Amino acid sequence: MSREPMIAPSLLSADFARLADEVQRIADADWVHVDVMDAHFVPNLTLGLPVVQAIQRVSPVPLDCHLMIEDPERWAPGYAEAGARNVTVHAEACSDPRAVARDLRAAGALAGLALKPGTPLEAYLDVLPEFDTLLVMTVEPGFGGQSFMPEVLPKVREARRLVQTGHLQLFLEVDGGINADTIGAAAEAGADVFVAGSAVYGAEDPAAAIAGLRALAAR
Ligand code: DX5
Ligand code: ZN
Repeated sequence: MSREPMIAPSLLSADFARLADEVQRIADADWVHVDVMDAHFVPNLTLGLPVVQAIQRVSPVPLDCHLMIEDPERWAPGYAEAGARNVTVHAEACSDPRAVARDLRAAGALAGLALKPGTPLEAYLDVLPEFDTLLVMTVEPGFGGQSFMPEVLPKVREARRLVQTGHLQLFLEVDGGINADTIGAAAEAGADVFVAGSAVYGAEDPAAAIAGLRALAAR
C-alpha cells in the first residue's frame, strides 16, 4: 500500500431528505462519494448537478462524484466546475476518455475512470496516464447493498503493480460491497480508496464505522 487508506462513504445509503445532516455525520471521512445515475447507463436514477452543487455548499468533506451516466463528455465538466475534488466517468460510456480527463483537470478536479466488473484494465492502459483515479467496481453499478465480487480483485492487483512499477500514478478506488468483512481483501490487493455505502450509513455510528474500516484497511 503506497498511501494511507482513504474512506469515502456513499451518500446513496444516506437519507436523501437530510443530506446536509448526513454529510456532517461523516465529517471525518476523506471523501464523500456521490453516485449520479441517469436511468440510462444504469437502471436507476438518483440525483444530478443541482443537488451536487447544494451538497458542495454544505459538505465538510471533499466530493467524489461517480457519474454512472451516458454522454459524460457533455455532463462531467459541470461537476468539476461545481467544486468536486474528484469526478469519475465510466470507461464504457466514453467515446474519448482522454478528452474528458483533460476537461476535468482543466476545471480543477481530479479525473477518474471507472471500470465495470467485466471491463478489462488492458483496454484503457493507454489513456490512464491522463487520469488521477481508477475506480474498480466490485459490484455491477446501479444499486447499494450488493455483495462484493472478489473475482474483480486481480484487476486491482494488476493496477497496483503498474503504479508500483511507476507506469501509472493513480488513486486505486474500489466501490461496491465494501464492509468490515471485505475491505481487508481489497486493501491487500492494493486499493487505497474505499467507497462504503451501507457499511457506513447502515451503521449505528457512522464515524465509528469509518474508523473501523480505516483500521482494517491499514492492517
Ligand atoms: C453502486 C454505487 C456504490 C454504492 C455502494 O452503483 O456506485 O457507490 O453506493 O454501496 P454499498 O457500499 O452498499 O455496496
Ligand atoms: Zn459509486
